[in-house]
Amino acid sequence: MPFITKKSLLALGVLAGIGVVAGIGVVAATGFVWSGVYDVGADDPHTRPVYALLESLRDRSVQVRASKLQVPGLDDPARIAQGAGNYEAMCTSCHLAPGVAETELSKGLYPAPPDLTRASVDAAEAFWVIKHGVKASGMPAWGKSMEDAYIWNMVAFLQQLPSLDARQYQELVARSGGHSHGGGETGGHAQANAEAGHDDAHPHPGAPAGDDHHAADTSGGAKAPATDSGATTHVHADGKQHVHAPKPATAIQSTAAPAAPATTPVPAQPAAPEAHDQHDHQH
Ligand code: HEC
Repeated sequence: MPFITKKSLLALGVLAGIGVVAGIGVVAATGFVWSGVYDVGADDPHTRPVYALLESLRDRSVQVRASKLQVPGLDDPARIAQGAGNYEAMCTSCHLAPGVAETELSKGLYPAPPDLTRASVDAAEAFWVIKHGVKASGMPAWGKSMEDAYIWNMVAFLQQLPSLDARQYQELVARSGGHSHGGGETGGHAQANAEAGHDDAHPHPGAPAGDDHHAADTSGGAKAPATDSGATTHVHADGKQHVHAPKPATAIQSTAAPAAPATTPVPAQPAAPEAHDQHDHQH
């Protein structure tokens, strides 16, 4: 039957041609990777076309996802102050602060962390990046240890940051009540409790199940499966047990712990002298 026309032969030829070219492309790409010729060192910048491609990839990826977010009101001074304390504790090593020059991290990372004392950021995009991080860059996914409300507080603070001088910045940080975000705290919290708080199993109201704020000392320990109540228990390397209550909290509050965070967590203001015990460390 006359199915094989000149036209269909031509189409077949074109397809075969495309196949051959694609095949050569795959072989060339494999050879390029295998040769090890591309320098992945952070001190050797990408070529311009590669950098431009990666930048567009990141920008579009963030823009598309951020466009689905609903930005809450970010003008609340309590929100801004609360965000300042966390920014000071967690972000300045890479993103700097008024009066802080380059750090080893800010200098050495590639892609370089933007100087957030100069760059103004889109609120939704900043929220998305802070929560999810950026692959193959130094930017961590803070959403693994920080609840959304606390991330929005930092976003609120970032809207103000470029207009702050060193003194205004320090004032805000001082008013912030320190480092607190409903999970994942290290630094101040770990010091405040030193070893004392870990001597016995104690419940943590408001802790998300699986919270791993003690990741550092679980390295040699084991994490036990969740109990019937939904609480998780993990055993530290030294054999001490640690119980995390499930969320939402119904467990009895441990001695100094304040109430679980509302949607917009704000620490007591102004910071009381015993702020160390008061700052909300629900985890
Ligand atoms: C270890 C270094 C490091 C730390 C700590 C860090 N970041 Fe980043 N951050 C980066 C890098 C690197 C980028 C750029 C990523 C890229 O360009 O792909 C970035 C990007 C961002 C961006 C996007 C800025 C823009 O203009 O696109 C925001 C917002 C941001 N970080 C906020 C924060 C906040 C808030 C914290 C603290 C909770 C923080 N970062 C902590 C390294 C860090």
